[in-house]
Amino acid sequence: MAGPESGSDKPKSDAGNKFAAKGSEAASYVGSPAVGTSKAAAAAGLATVGPQQSEINERRRRFVWFAVTGFLTAWFLAFLRFFLPRTLFEPPTIFKIGYPSDYSLGVDTKWQQKYRIWVDRTPDRLFVIFARCTHLGCTPDWKASENKFKCPCHGSGYDSEGINFEGPAPRPMDRAHVELAPDGQIIVDVSRLFQWPKGQPSRFNDPGSFLEG
Ligand code: FES
Repeated sequence: MAGPESGSDKPKSDAGNKFAAKGSEAASYVGSPAVGTSKAAAAAGLATVGPQQSEINERRRRFVWFAVTGFLTAWFLAFLRFFLPRTLFEPPTIFKIGYPSDYSLGVDTKWQQKYRIWVDRTPDRLFVIFARCTHLGCTPDWKASENKFKCPCHGSGYDSEGINFEGPAPRPMDRAHVELAPDGQIIVDVSRLFQWPKGQPSRFNDPGSFLEG
């Protein structure tokens, strides 16, 4: 039968050894260590922060600083943006498109991308169609092989002079004001449009809606 000493003779576990070491360290203090000091923590058996722990804390601290700095920068940029003018840059409404002799019979699409117009020459006049479907405002395509404009949105069709003949478009496409500049070039003004509303007289023969010849 083992005596009371036999248990203490057995090898102690590492945890037991550490505890004993801390106990002996605490026992070597004379008096009570001040509260909050490392000695007090050691005396109470609290674990100190190791190098790995402090590295994790350092990473956390950096992350928080990074997040706070990013937030403040974004906020400051938004604040500055508030004072900048919100200008919408649109193409000019009045421009020159060259000389009447530059255009032959039929539809010329070279200004479609830049000014959203087509130049249309018939045997007796030259006029400019504003390339906007009168249904909901899409830009129709010129189908040279079919000699017509076709709207890709809902299928409205217009003849070579922009007169609607199929689909939901309620009226012909508008025409822009045209006149000759002193240098002989054509000046187009798309802020002044001539319309032919459904059931009403056409404005397509008004002065400024076409050029003779
Ligand atoms: S917008 Fe052209 S048919 Fe509807």
